[in-house]
Amino acid sequence: MGASPILKLLMALLLAEINSRNSHPDSLHVSFLHSMSLDGQFTFHDVHQAATDFGNRYHLLPSMVLHPGSVSDIAATVRRVVSLGPSSGLTVAARGEGHSLQGHHCPPRGRIVRRRPRWEPMDRRLEGDSAPWPLPMSWTDYLHLSIGGTLSNAGISGQAFRHGPQISNVHQLEVVTGKGEAVLCSSTHNADLFHAVLGGLGQFGIITRARITLQAAPKMVKWIRVLYSDFATFVEDQEMLISVTKTFDYVEGFVIINRTGLLNNWRSSFWPKDPALVGQFESQGRTLFCLEVTKNFDPENHGVMMQEVDELLTKLRYIPSTLFESEVSYLDFLDRVHASELKLRLKGLWEVPHPWLNLLVPKAGIHEFADEVFGKIVTESNNGPILLYPLNKSNWDNRTSAVIPDEEVFFLVAFLSSAPSSSGQDCLARALKQNERILEFCKKANIKAKQYLPYYTTQEDWRSHYGPRWETFRRRKQTYDPLAILAPEQRIFQKAADWP
Ligand SMILES: Cc1cc2nc3c(=O)[nH]c(=O)nc-3n(C[C@H](O)[C@H](O)[C@H](O)COP(=O)(O)OP(=O)(O)OC[C@H]3O[C@@H](n4cnc5c(N)ncnc54)[C@H](O)[C@@H]3O)c2cc1C
Ligand SMILES: *[C@@H]1O[C@H](CO)[C@@H](O)[C@H](O)[C@H]1NC(C)=O
Ligand SMILES: *[C@@H]1O[C@H](CO)[C@@H](O)[C@H](O)[C@H]1NC(C)=O
Ligand SMILES: *[C@@H]1O[C@H](CO)[C@@H](O)[C@H](O)[C@H]1NC(C)=O
Repeated sequence: MGASPILKLLMALLLAEINSRNSHPDSLHVSFLHSMSLDGQFTFHDVHQAATDFGNRYHLLPSMVLHPGSVSDIAATVRRVVSLGPSSGLTVAARGEGHSLQGHHCPPRGRIVRRRPRWEPMDRRLEGDSAPWPLPMSWTDYLHLSIGGTLSNAGISGQAFRHGPQISNVHQLEVVTGKGEAVLCSSTHNADLFHAVLGGLGQFGIITRARITLQAAPKMVKWIRVLYSDFATFVEDQEMLISVTKTFDYVEGFVIINRTGLLNNWRSSFWPKDPALVGQFESQGRTLFCLEVTKNFDPENHGVMMQEVDELLTKLRYIPSTLFESEVSYLDFLDRVHASELKLRLKGLWEVPHPWLNLLVPKAGIHEFADEVFGKIVTESNNGPILLYPLNKSNWDNRTSAVIPDEEVFFLVAFLSSAPSSSGQDCLARALKQNERILEFCKKANIKAKQYLPYYTTQEDWRSHYGPRWETFRRRKQTYDPLAILAPEQRIFQKAADWP
């Protein structure tokens, strides 16, 4: 733990590509390219790849794609766009892994800056290096996302209750602003830019390097799932686990609505603590809540770990016959979603529309939310998991651009729906309608939830998303990207229209 040197694997991967694409090369684009001297290159193929994201619903074609050979390529490109002035219509969007949901990585016009440093701790494993090596402390559930992409949102998972989101674990950034300046920043040096960029949805600059907190990687993980049928008991136990000091290393949970065959699905990777009891449990269409926790350990200390886990488990009030457990390497645990990805890809179920809705729901409203949403608005969870787990505001820095509810404890509630065409024509429409109903309910009941990975189409909605922080957000935009060149796909600011 503690301040790190620049994370090695990031450095290695940071020799990123920029892509720039021009499907309608007009004289402006030709002269633009002609006078540029770059370490990387602009390319004009891969339109459809660049135009697609994980949401798989929006396909916006960029006009140029730049593969950067260096940070100065990125800065020079932005400076060139700036020099063309407000009327050129050219804009710049960074593309990490294209795992946004609403076409966020794709500018309607202009170029995509394609960056590839990712959250993958795989290199050393391939080398067969068994010594503990430093890894980030705070992760996302899925690793095949870019660092720039997750730091532009927050980077949340089951470790965030303890270590904060990924944006709370950054020491220093290198950022190319919307003026085309490459700037080093931290909480003490160019602090306003540093905080602006964290959770900044790509609005203020392009992250080209990040120095983040590391810890020695644990070797193994005890991975446990238990079920509850009572929501109040489930969340009380979750809240207890995130408030005590001796606790699990990861706390998440998910909601299971009218699913059959659930326990069978788990058997491949989890086994029941008490096989004799498990037959007594029938899920039978009930709404169930699954608490998922892990404890890191070194195989030499297996006994100590088991004792700590047992102590924690005795404080929990899950249905006794539903204790499932597994032991896996830390890296396999971190990469767990990728295993599901591979299975879904084989069935053609990965590259399908993903009408996701992610909410941060304040504790004060979580019971009313659950009463109305689980079972009434959402009547089954067969089309994708519904995650639900608590976070503590105290390890979120309120100077960043990330928006969270104004309460000490709030819950990530993530409706991660897939809408494959095999589920019927109206599957996507139904999922979108369901999201709308959830948002409408939150508004009507004054739940004060905030969207995570927010999606709005009007500036008015963005203003209300930011609330009292809107003026700071707007001021920062004016300071760091005065022509509103960056990340236009978020539809927060419009180039030229808003800025003189
Ligand atoms: C399967 C899956 C699982 C996920 N799990 C989690 C999770 O557990 N926790 C969580 O917090 N999130 C999760 N996410 C959401 C994810 O963090 C965001 O969608 C993130 O933006 C994806 O990164 P990306 O590299 O794909 O970004 P892209 O889609 O390429 O870009 C996303 C946004 O970030 C901006 N951006 C990208 N790179 C940079 C950069 N270098 N500098 C500045 N701005 C940049 C772009 O302008 C764009 O607006 C998940 C997404 C998927 C698809
Ligand atoms: C949130 O975190 C702070 C700081 O660690 C702690 O004092 C507080 O008790 C936590 N709140 C809850 C409800 O866990
Ligand atoms: C649960 O699903 C089954 C079949 O999918 C359906 O017949 C039943 O009505 C559902 N129950 C509830 C409570 O929604
Ligand atoms: C941020 O939090 C600090 C205390 O942690 C508080 O003094 C300050 O007013 C907060 N700022 C904003 C903008 O909420």
